[in-house]
Amino acid sequence: MSARPFVWGAGTAAFQVEGATTADGRGESIWDRFAATGGNVADGDTGEPACEHYYRWREDLDLMRELKLQSYRFSIAWPRVQPDGRGAANQKGLDFYRRLAEGLRERGIAPFATLYHWDLPQALQDRGGWASRDVVDRFAEYARLVLDELDDVVVDWVTHNEPWVTSFLGYAAGVKAPGVRDWAAAIRASHHALLAHGVVVREFREAGRPGRIGITLNLTVSEPAGESDEDAAAAQRLDGYQNRWFLDPLFRGEYPGDMVELYERQVGPFDALRGGDLETIAQPIDFLGVNFYRPNRVAAGDGVLGVREVERVGEHTAMGWVIAPEALTELLLRVARDYGDVPLLITENGAAFDDLVDGGEVVEDERRVDYLRAHIGAVERAREQGVDLRGYYVWSLLDNFEWEWGYAKRFGIVYVDYATQRRIPNRSALWYSYLIASRNGA
Ligand code: FCB
Repeated sequence: MSARPFVWGAGTAAFQVEGATTADGRGESIWDRFAATGGNVADGDTGEPACEHYYRWREDLDLMRELKLQSYRFSIAWPRVQPDGRGAANQKGLDFYRRLAEGLRERGIAPFATLYHWDLPQALQDRGGWASRDVVDRFAEYARLVLDELDDVVVDWVTHNEPWVTSFLGYAAGVKAPGVRDWAAAIRASHHALLAHGVVVREFREAGRPGRIGITLNLTVSEPAGESDEDAAAAQRLDGYQNRWFLDPLFRGEYPGDMVELYERQVGPFDALRGGDLETIAQPIDFLGVNFYRPNRVAAGDGVLGVREVERVGEHTAMGWVIAPEALTELLLRVARDYGDVPLLITENGAAFDDLVDGGEVVEDERRVDYLRAHIGAVERAREQGVDLRGYYVWSLLDNFEWEWGYAKRFGIVYVDYATQRRIPNRSALWYSYLIASRNGA
């Protein structure tokens, strides 16, 4: 195995853990609006109280130190920094993240910040959100405010978390905020998210900022359900939709021709793309973040993509996601083979299970331990085969607001009793802590 340093961490995202949705001048986000609208989120759950991390961050940082985490991936809530998505910064919002980053460093934990993990200011959505090109300038302005404030305490930055989710689940499927169902808007949104990423990376370099910057994609292994040519073509389309639509512009400076052709035929002209955009998107990045949960098996079907998801037999998590760790090795080898030797970080990997508190000091979550052990093994196998992997972040440190599933799905290695806000370590947290110590020769 390579001698390069490898970082072990855990992640969360602002809207999922912070709560305090109106504190200190925070503005409304698309997730506040979406969750407040009946039928969008299970059990009518909202961003309150989440884990009250906005108030309990010190206790949470102490917990991270006890678990020996080397890095913590969190996201910055745009509406805390710019309540209306434009103009001067709300200093109180920035102060929170400064305290958080400094508190991490005091405890020997590296802060790893994501600029956008889905909580767009609602005021920008009222003007079209990611489907409107104006959002690119807005995002660049927001990023400048954050980076000016924090680039001395945060080294590693992610521009976007999973732009595929932002655009296609938010604007085409409508299952995530802002809940729009319009394929043309979604395709525009995907381009604007990528362009906004590129503009921020370029400005990051021009400003001579000291840290590293990259983007996080949720990548999949797209498997054909059967032997037919139709199924193979369906798998190719799903790969184009979720993987290549983002990887190709980022690393090759072009959108995949088969997907442009498909979208133009099924949806309409791809007119969001303007001269110079692709050069901006393809700025070199310091790392690619990969979020991985499961592969997808597909057959030919209906809809814009002509794809139908087929269930795989085998063990599944509480999300109904198949457990297939070998797919993670395959994915990492493929990214390295097709897109070159960019350093990779696993920015999210983990599993939801129906954890039960039985009154003990630890919640027994053997299945999550098994999941993590198998997936970390899969990462190490890719590393052994030469993939330049630099770190692994468990999703998630804490149980939290799992988007349209609300609080019903638990991904934490630490259990959260929402009624009391008590944190109870799961067996997986103790196991992970032990793994970190053993990997570091302790
Ligand atoms: C990812 C998200 C993260 C969490 C996990 C389960 O798509 O980035 O916030 O919801 O899925």
